[in-house]
Amino acid sequence: MSVSVEVDAPTTNAELAAWVREIAALTQPDRIEWCDGSEEEWTRLTNLLVEQGTLTRLAARPNSFYAKSDPSDVARVEDRTYICSEREEDAGPTNNWIAPAEMRQTFGELFRGCMRGRTMYVVPFCMGPLGGEISQLGVEITDSAYVAVSMRVMTRMGDRALRLIEDRGAARQAGESEGRANGGRSKRDHEHSDFVKAVHSVGAPLESGAADKPWPCSSTKYISHFPETREIWSYGSGYGGNALLGKKCYALRIASVMARDEGWLAEHMLILKLTPPSGETRYIAAAFPSACGKTNLAMLQPTIPGWKVETIGDDIAWMRFGDDGRLHAINPEAGFFGVAPGTGEVTNANAVKTLWGNSIFTNVALTDDGDVWWEGLTDEPPAHLTDWKGRSWTPDSDEPAAHPNARFTTPASQCPTIAPEWQDPKGVPISAILFGGRRATAVPLVTESLSWEHGVFLGANVASEKTAAAEGKVGELRYDPFAMLPFCGYNMGDYFGHWLKIGRRPGAELPRIFYVNWFRKNADGQFIWPGFGENTRVLKWIVDRLNGEAEAVPTPIGLLPGDLDTDGLDLSDEDLRTLLTVDRDVWREEAALIPGHFDKFGAHLPKELWEEYNALLDRLG
Ligand code: PEP
Ligand code: MN
Ligand code: NA
Repeated sequence: MSVSVEVDAPTTNAELAAWVREIAALTQPDRIEWCDGSEEEWTRLTNLLVEQGTLTRLAARPNSFYAKSDPSDVARVEDRTYICSEREEDAGPTNNWIAPAEMRQTFGELFRGCMRGRTMYVVPFCMGPLGGEISQLGVEITDSAYVAVSMRVMTRMGDRALRLIEDRGAARQAGESEGRANGGRSKRDHEHSDFVKAVHSVGAPLESGAADKPWPCSSTKYISHFPETREIWSYGSGYGGNALLGKKCYALRIASVMARDEGWLAEHMLILKLTPPSGETRYIAAAFPSACGKTNLAMLQPTIPGWKVETIGDDIAWMRFGDDGRLHAINPEAGFFGVAPGTGEVTNANAVKTLWGNSIFTNVALTDDGDVWWEGLTDEPPAHLTDWKGRSWTPDSDEPAAHPNARFTTPASQCPTIAPEWQDPKGVPISAILFGGRRATAVPLVTESLSWEHGVFLGANVASEKTAAAEGKVGELRYDPFAMLPFCGYNMGDYFGHWLKIGRRPGAELPRIFYVNWFRKNADGQFIWPGFGENTRVLKWIVDRLNGEAEAVPTPIGLLPGDLDTDGLDLSDEDLRTLLTVDRDVWREEAALIPGHFDKFGAHLPKELWEEYNALLDRLG
């Protein structure tokens, strides 16, 4: 017998109230709680999570917590991630597809009673500055308090977002009655609801009296997106990218579909503000695959005197054309969900400073005095730790103390380099877009594209060695176009076409496109380029190019620096040659891989990209 809970829906938005009732009837939670985003709520929920054993309060950092996940639930599950478009072709060859009707039937069964014994949290949120024109609204229903508190860090969550949803609903209704009076209706207002609907369950109902686990989850997992109806359904995982549905699921997969339909861009990009000694500020966006250093570049400490880098965002950029014809970008997020291992004083001191408090750490190691540690935080590991699986750990242990994909969840506002305008609802005008990945071979330190179309060709050919951010074998090379392979909500061939279309917009003042690679290795397998703060030297060349002040050398693959500032760097002539020359034989081999990559998209691959490919072959001779 199904016990129905009292569904009191404290909202004036009838659609939201009805949807919450519908999901509650399906999932049968014991209680429903509407999250208001207050500090009182955060304190109550984090206390509850500590009581349940999900979180451990850190003695060493104020208002901060440690979580260790189930060892099977540590990363995004790309093979369980689905784009459920009406037509399989619209999901494209790089996404998993299940027909929406079939997926809905599966979910109808999986979600039936799945929140029994649990609290259902209703989490209204806004992606982007509150009330901004580029910003978007959503509501996540979840049975995980860990997700609810994490959403408070990562998004503008709670009452303020709910009010915006209600305002929008009221405005739409007013428009509808006006439309009826005029005998017509505007299409855009009626196609979609006032907010994106996102349903999440850890998939572990509690039978009455049963004890909960610290990290409930299920071995059955589905992370599913319905692009036509702008819905997200996620089952079985409590981990970040699978469960914090505002982030990858909404701000990239669903938003990329919105962006296609409405003429803007939703991208897997950091946004940084760069101020040279001249004072002429530039904003740069950069797309690298997960765990390739977006957070580090966004918070970089320049090594060239007089240069300043500030942070707008570290993972996602939404860009729209302004009246000035330029692309203006916002960071839709309010926090950083960063990879902890490798984040330290040398690699990213600003991230370390950001983490002073109000943070959640997942799958890192615990010190004996109630702090966190991970590989790379300090050169010397502590003599004793509790590892991410809860085992006693010493430097002699065989396994790393932190999981390689251990994460911090921390407010962006705490970042010492956060730019004052990071929450400007109008966004910041982008001057340059960088693509890149991890490539031990072939790919130079920096290449400038020959045109927008050539830049799109470079983006379409981003390839990178796999990291721990997704399940699978680390180190293997895979094409990851625009660093969007796991995040594009529709056919990637059409996505390339969308980028080309953006470039044809009348009056557009487009950013210039560059390709960077910090990860080139020498014959001994060591990184050649020092990276991190020294990457300012590459940013400097890029800015000089934008200002028409730097020399560039034409090569078959694009324009390379004629005069990179390497003063004071310990780089041999041979190292520099390796970083800044194009080996035609190696590049003929690289080019030979492209048809296999492009052919996957069949007729969806824009002909302009085949033309770029043929032009590359011609230039290689
Ligand atoms: C995640 O894995 O949860 C996530 C946010 O992905 P990424 O590593 O791309 O940031
Ligand atoms: Mn990412
Ligand atoms: Na990940």
